[in-house]
Amino acid sequence: MTAPHIPVLLDEVIAALAPTPGAVIVDATFGAGGYTRRLLDAGAVVHAFDRDPDAIAAGRLWPETQGDAPRLILYPRRFSEMVAALGEAGVARVDGVVMDIGVSSMQLDQPERGFAFASDGPLDMRMAQDGPSAADFVNTADEAAIADVLFQYGEERQSRRVARAIVAARPLETTGQLAHVIRKALGHRPGAPKDPATRSFQAIRIHVNAELDELNDALTGAEALLTPGGRLAVVSFHSLEDRIVKQFLRDGAGAVPSGSRHMPQMQAKALPVFEKPSGAIRPTEEEEVRNPRARSATLRWAVRTAAPARTSDGRAMA
Ligand SMILES: C[S@@+](CC[C@H](N)C(=O)[O-])C[C@H]1O[C@@H](n2cnc3c(N)ncnc32)[C@H](O)[C@@H]1O
Repeated sequence: MTAPHIPVLLDEVIAALAPTPGAVIVDATFGAGGYTRRLLDAGAVVHAFDRDPDAIAAGRLWPETQGDAPRLILYPRRFSEMVAALGEAGVARVDGVVMDIGVSSMQLDQPERGFAFASDGPLDMRMAQDGPSAADFVNTADEAAIADVLFQYGEERQSRRVARAIVAARPLETTGQLAHVIRKALGHRPGAPKDPATRSFQAIRIHVNAELDELNDALTGAEALLTPGGRLAVVSFHSLEDRIVKQFLRDGAGAVPSGSRHMPQMQAKALPVFEKPSGAIRPTEEEEVRNPRARSATLRWAVRTAAPARTSDGRAMA
C-alpha cells in the first residue's frame, strides 16, 4: 500500500480557478483527485483526465461519477486529446482548466511501475501502462539518440558518457541496473545530496511519455476551450516545463503578431488571449516541510480573454 498523493499548492490552485457552483472545469491530471475533490466541494462539474488506468479506476468509485447527471466525468485518455474528448461528450466551452503535470506518489512509490531509482523494479516508466517502455528505449535506441534525450530532457552535461555506458551495459531490465550504470559512469559519492541518476531518469521518463509534446498540445487545447473569463492554472515540476508554460502565457498575454510568419504583410497585433498572467507561485516553507515532493513545484495561471484562440503558428483562429 503506497502513501496517498498529497495535492501540491492546493489552496493556491483553487484560488486561481475560483470555482463557482455549476462551473465546468477540466482537471487534466486527476491522479488521486486532490484538486477534483475541492472543485466538487465548491459545486463545480469536473471533467477529469488521466492516462493512467489505475487513477481512473480509483476515480470510478467516487459517488459523484454515478447517476443520470454525474458531476465527475472521467476520461482514461491523454490530456493532449482534451478538445476531441470533450467534443465527443458535447462540451465545447469550459470555465477552467488545471494541469498538475508530474508523476503521482502512487506511480513513484510502486517499484513495479519503474519510475524510481531508490527502489528496484522493472524499467518501465509508462504512465499509460502501454506503448514502448523505458527498457525498450535504453535497449534499442542508438547511442546518439540516448545522449540527445539525456541532454535535452535531463540537461545532463555528461550525456555522451552516460549514453556510452548504457549501451555497453545492455540489456538493462531494472531501474536498479540503470541507476548503477549511471552512477558508475558519473562517479557517485555516497552521501552526496543529489543522486547523479536523477537527471537521466527524468529525461528518460519525459521521453517515454512524450511529456513536453503533451504539455504543448494541452496548453493549446485549453486556450481553445476556455470561455472568456475562464482560468488556466498549471503546476509544473521542472524548469523545462515551467519555461514552456511561462512562454505560452507571456505570448498569449502580450504582443503576438496575428499574421502568419509566412505572410508578413498580414502582420498586425493580435488581441491578447490571456490577461493577468501570474508570476511563479511557489510552495510555502510550511508546505515544503509537510510535503517534500512540493519542493520543485511552480504554479502559473492566467485569465482567458474573449479574443479568438491562436493556431499553433501564432495566428488568430477564425
Ligand atoms: C501529479 S499527479 C496529479 C495529482 C492530482 N492533482 C491530485 O491532487 O491528486 C499527475 C497525474 O497526471 C497524469 N498524467 C501525466 N501526464 C498526463 C497526460 N499527458 N495525459 C493524462 N494524464 C497525465 C499522471 O498519470 C498522474 O496520475
